Amino acid sequence: MPLYKTINFNSTTQILVWKITESLEDLLSKVVLKETTQLRLNGMKSELHQRGFLSVRMLLQEAGFNDFDLHYDAFGKPYLNPNERHTEPVEVSITHSHNFSVIIISEDAAGIDIELQREKIMRIADKFVNEKELSRLRCFDTNDYIRKLTVKWGVKESIFKIRNESGISFKNHIQVNTFELKDTKTTALLDFENTKQEFNVYFEEFENFTLVYAFEKI
Ligand SMILES: CC(C)(COP(=O)(O)OP(=O)(O)OC[C@H]1O[C@@H](n2cnc3c(N)ncnc32)[C@H](O)[C@@H]1OP(=O)(O)O)[C@@H](O)C(=O)NCCC(=O)NCCS
Repeated sequence: MPLYKTINFNSTTQILVWKITESLEDLLSKVVLKETTQLRLNGMKSELHQRGFLSVRMLLQEAGFNDFDLHYDAFGKPYLNPNERHTEPVEVSITHSHNFSVIIISEDAAGIDIELQREKIMRIADKFVNEKELSRLRCFDTNDYIRKLTVKWGVKESIFKIRNESGISFKNHIQVNTFELKDTKTTALLDFENTKQEFNVYFEEFENFTLVYAFEKI
C-alpha cells in the first residue's frame, strides 16, 4: 500500500505513516540504498524487520528525502542532512512495528513511537510505570487499561528518542500526566540528573495500534 496516513501537525511538523503490504522484493525495487544501509539490511534476521526498515525509506521519499540523507549517531539516533529540496535543518524520528512504519519530520525536537496494543503490557506495567502513575490510571475496563498503558509506553519511548541519554529509566525518570483516551494529548515530565524537562504529547489509535509523538516544551 502506498502512504496510509499523513498528519500535517503544523507548518513545520509532518508525520507520515506507511502500512506495509508490499513484498521485500517490491520494496527493494523502489528504493536506492547507500552501502551502509544495504549492509544493515543484509544483517537483519527477520523479513518483517527488513520490510519495516525499507518502508521507512519509502516514507523518506514521500517527504522529499532519500536514504543518502539519513544517518545515525553513535547511539542509533537518526538525523537528516539538508538536501536540495530541504535546505534548512530538520529533526527526524523513526518507528516501525509489525505492518506499520512511521516517521516524524519537524523543525523542533520530536520523538515518535508506534505500538501494537497487547494484553502482555499489563504484565510488565510495573517495570515502566511508577506507583503514582499507576494509581491515577483509574480504568474499569481491561481494554481501556491496555490502551492507556500502551500510550504511556509510547510516550516514554518517544521522550527517550528525543533525549537519547543512557541511564534514563522509564519508571523512575519519566512521569506521564493524567489523561483520558478521548483527549488524544497529554503532557509528561522527564526528571533526570538534576534537569526537569516538560513535553507535549499527542496520541492516536488505528487498527489496534497506538501512535504517540512528543515535543519538548520550550
Ligand atoms: C532504541 C529504542 C528507543 C527503539 O525503540 P523500539 O520500540 O525498540 O523500536 P522502534 O521501531 O519504535 O524504533 C526504532 C528506531 O528508533 C531509532 N533509534 C534507535 N536508537 C535510538 C536512540 N538512541 N535515540 C533515538 N532514536 C533511536 C532508529 O531510527 C530505529 O529505527 P531504524 O534503526 O530502523 O532507523 C529502544 O529500543 C530503547 O532502547 N529504549 C530505551 C530503553 C529502555 O529503557 N527500555 C525499556 C525500559 S522498561
